[in-house]
Amino acid sequence: MPIIKVEKLVKRFGNITAVDDISFEVEEGTIFGFLGPNGAGKTTTINILCTLLAPSSGRASIAGHDCMEEASGVRRAIGIVFQDTTLDKDLTAYENLIFHAYLYDVPRSEMKKRVADVLRFVDLYDRKDDLVKKFSGGMKRRLEVARGLIHQPRVLFLDEPTLGLDPQSRSNLWEFITKLPEMHNVTIFMTTHYMEEAEVCNTIAIIDNGKIIAMGTPDELKKTIGGDVVYMTTTDNATAKSEIKSLFNIDASEKQNELYMTCSRGDTCIPEIIRTLGDKVISVRLQRPTLNDVFLKLTGKTIRQEDVSGEDTIRESIRAYRRRH
Ligand SMILES: Nc1ncnc2c1ncn2[C@@H]1O[C@H](COP(=O)(O)OP(=O)(O)OP(=O)(O)O)[C@@H](O)[C@H]1O
Ligand SMILES: [Mg+2]
Repeated sequence: MPIIKVEKLVKRFGNITAVDDISFEVEEGTIFGFLGPNGAGKTTTINILCTLLAPSSGRASIAGHDCMEEASGVRRAIGIVFQDTTLDKDLTAYENLIFHAYLYDVPRSEMKKRVADVLRFVDLYDRKDDLVKKFSGGMKRRLEVARGLIHQPRVLFLDEPTLGLDPQSRSNLWEFITKLPEMHNVTIFMTTHYMEEAEVCNTIAIIDNGKIIAMGTPDELKKTIGGDVVYMTTTDNATAKSEIKSLFNIDASEKQNELYMTCSRGDTCIPEIIRTLGDKVISVRLQRPTLNDVFLKLTGKTIRQEDVSGEDTIRESIRAYRRRH
């Protein structure tokens, strides 16, 4: 039985349809990722699943509890790391966690051990008596993950867990997140708009304008692109091209003195081509399709494009300001 079940979920805010008829299921013990640009409807979906928001229509359930009718059952089954940090900065790391343990009715006899265990898990045990306001962004995020685990939830929601972190803190946090399903027996539901982060998910749903436009494993999604692209420079492109066509039935094209072709499996096709062409080959490179290619194919835009167009708008406003002054 799936641990999260969503059927025909819709959420409207006035005339904005933030979540537009989405349905999906999440298997227990997996990492499920919602990948989409700003405003796609990721946080709104999480808020509905976490019982913080009522949907306009449709149903959702977690661990068999209906998100509308059995809110307290759902709340006991979930932990959440919000997009914006919600720690108490004037308390120590340890106090933040103990406070949370009280809220969730963790038995007194187990409280200290559980807090110590999760602090060790996120590598913050040595800093447990420091005030949170002295923590770096990455440490705060790790502490929030620890807090989300104290009451031993079956599902942990992570909304943009690495937003605003530097690359090193991001990869550091990912190390902990990927260990969660196995070590804490928890299912992860995460959102992100970083492609590389979505790669760790067992299943990804790509969401845009409130709709799920594709869903599958990262590999399945990338396969929809139709294979890998192999680039090759040779001593004699015309001959190489006709040999590749006659022996492998692959149509190579030429751009800036380089041959390129799509192969269903680039890693097996490259050695065969090299064996055949021998000394004619000067260099080879393989380009695997990325999730961004998938998003581009489905929507005609890249996930970051909106950020870029945002920058253009900012630059244009600056120029207009300078003209006026
Ligand atoms: N409380 C609200 N009232 C009105 N509109 C809202 C509200 N919450 C969200 N929206 C709108 O719903 C849409 C989806 O927002 P949501 O926060 O779910 O996006 P998101 O995918 O989480 O984006 P981000 O990547 O920026 O966090 C947006 O157009 C947003 O402006
Ligand atoms: Mg959001």
